[in-house]
Amino acid sequence: MYSQLFRKVLVHTDAEKIHHQTIKALKFVSHCAPLERLIAARFSNRSIHPVPQFGQEIFDRPVPSPIGLAAGLDKNAEAIIAFDSLGFGFIEVGTVTPRPQPGNEGKRLWRHPTIDAIRNRMGFNNDGAKNMGKRLKKLRSTVRGRQIIVGVNIGKNKNTTDENAAYDYAQAAREVARWADYLVINVSSPNTPRLRELQAVDALKPIVEMTKQAADETAGRDVPVFLKLAPDLEDSEISEICTFVNNSILRGVIATNTTVNHELGEGGLSGRPLTQRAATIVRQLRKELNADKKIIGVGGIWNEVDAERMIEAGADLFQVYTAFIFQGPKWLRRINDTLLKDEK
Ligand SMILES: Cc1cc2nc3c(=O)[nH]c(=O)nc-3n(C[C@H](O)[C@H](O)[C@H](O)COP(=O)(O)O)c2cc1C
Repeated sequence: MYSQLFRKVLVHTDAEKIHHQTIKALKFVSHCAPLERLIAARFSNRSIHPVPQFGQEIFDRPVPSPIGLAAGLDKNAEAIIAFDSLGFGFIEVGTVTPRPQPGNEGKRLWRHPTIDAIRNRMGFNNDGAKNMGKRLKKLRSTVRGRQIIVGVNIGKNKNTTDENAAYDYAQAAREVARWADYLVINVSSPNTPRLRELQAVDALKPIVEMTKQAADETAGRDVPVFLKLAPDLEDSEISEICTFVNNSILRGVIATNTTVNHELGEGGLSGRPLTQRAATIVRQLRKELNADKKIIGVGGIWNEVDAERMIEAGADLFQVYTAFIFQGPKWLRRINDTLLKDEK
């Protein structure tokens, strides 16, 4: 029913307006315990399936489901509890930058239902790391909030030069690391000019080192840090990144972000057009990364087969964004049911 509603009604509405209204509604749910319990009873299947004990080495505590929410949906960490109630095993918020910024001007979010895709040129619109830190601190002050595995995806502000990029990542890490299960260094969004050039190994080194140091110092523990990659990298570039990751303190890699390999206009494309490329990259990563490096697969996972293919390609966990928008919470429950049944 949600799918029909989405394809027949919601696709004709303003995508960004609906996005904000949805987050507002989910924020309300997050602050209303009875409503949250009602949603969990309807959509989450944690009471049916025993909590699987996998994933301990990924975020240093077990993950209740291998499906996580990908970055960009809850950019400001406003609706974490609601997303957890819907059945996501871990929730990645952000991208957050050290200072608040409005993102790109003009229309910046499009749906392409004929190809099961979303295109965006949002440009890291967010409230800034300090405000996110405050929200996460509040979340972690409750037993309920501490149960949820939360990752924070961090980026640099648009007006920060490449030379100063590492300081931005470190500053964002300092504001949020204490409250995060893991951090993600996002150098792969196509919507901040020149950001993806930071995927070059020389540029990555100071960013990774300064972020990790800032995170560990503020949190007082070994904070898992991941690197999020673009799908448009050449195989040789991925190989160079693998060598770098193998010799670094990174916990692993998240692959992939949105693609610019399309002719629909400005912005990065997500959803179905990414399915194959994302799985291919995960396969290469698994071959070239050391066994202790973790992989979170994301990109065009649309059904159980895609999810299982991603895991078979070598992903330890995976995330979704576009399929959830197109197919809704019942879809998430169905995928969870299939995968958690396999876990028993
Ligand atoms: C509207 C929109 C906004 C996004 N914003 C971010 C972001 O801020 N940071 C990030 O790392 N990825 C962002 N992404 C990328 C997703 O996290 C994910 O990597 C990508 O959409 C591929 O997954 P999917 O095909 O399941 O959507 C965004 C995606 C969409 C559709």
